[in-house]
Amino acid sequence: MKTVLSGIRPTGNLHLGNYYGAMVNFLKMQEENKCFFFIADWHSLTTHPDPKMLHVNVRNVLSEYLACGLDPEKATIYIQSDVPEIAELYLLLNMHAYLGELEKTVSFKEKARQNPDNVNAGLLTYPVLMATDILIHNADYVPVGKDQEQHLEMTRNYANRFNYKYGTDYFKQPTAYNFDQELIKIPGLDGSGKMGKSEGNCIYLIDEPKEIEKKVKRALTDNGPEGANTPKPDYIENLFTILKVVSTPDVVAYYDNLWNSGATKWYGNMKKQLAEDIIKVTSPIRERINDIKNDAAYLHKVAKEGAEKARESAGKTLQDVREIMGFKSF
Ligand code: TRP
Repeated sequence: MKTVLSGIRPTGNLHLGNYYGAMVNFLKMQEENKCFFFIADWHSLTTHPDPKMLHVNVRNVLSEYLACGLDPEKATIYIQSDVPEIAELYLLLNMHAYLGELEKTVSFKEKARQNPDNVNAGLLTYPVLMATDILIHNADYVPVGKDQEQHLEMTRNYANRFNYKYGTDYFKQPTAYNFDQELIKIPGLDGSGKMGKSEGNCIYLIDEPKEIEKKVKRALTDNGPEGANTPKPDYIENLFTILKVVSTPDVVAYYDNLWNSGATKWYGNMKKQLAEDIIKVTSPIRERINDIKNDAAYLHKVAKEGAEKARESAGKTLQDVREIMGFKSF
């Protein structure tokens, strides 16, 4: 059985892109692997979140994860800051992380350029903390997006460096998790390639039906095809991509035929159908999110049991690492 680990920063709500791009795969992963799903609240500190919002955001992500079907019986679901072992291993690994390589990290350079007044040490060592998250459970696989691949590469470097330095093969080489199928990429509603919260083109799992209808209605379209069998422009293709995911094949074929016939004035109907089918997918999830969010006892139980399981696994690694590095108790 392989160990899989995934982390998410608590910075907003899950959207349709997260659901089809990641969650759907996580549900399969938790059946077949030893999975750790955690909320990286320490990582979110680089931008100094408002303390009240930090807690709200962690609760939202936890509730959304559970509502989507991540199962605390099958996977270890926890909050990073509940596992102090991570902080200690982070300290130890920091001694083997060099300024030059940290400064060269793409994400660091980008953030430093965007916020020149907040180039803090935590931002610099962000990849070390992420490596710690992964190595503390000696994970085999980490499902990551393109933007996190360099961090995973650095994690392998730290694992190698540690092994070499202390003459051990203790840490494994974590690699990107390869999903069985192509990842489904949900495009934005504004004609852009990808649904993302920073793009502001999202349908969130917690959006009320009215909100979803409004957003879909506003999605970018035009006057219709300029003739029969013309290629679809990107923003129309995007609507079809989402339709394919949430609707039945005959609905997709129906609108595809309309496009190919060169007919016009059917976008309104298609959007109505699209909104309706998105709502069908998200409504049960939204209802569960709202139930779970308000169930303080359940959230407390999940977080507590998750932390216990995570600490047990992390504690073992940390004890081994201490010994390898020469820490001994008197
Ligand atoms: N850096 C990741 C992101 O911004 C979040 C993260 C933190 C993470 N620790 C991790 C992802 C460990 C995978 C494994 O998306």
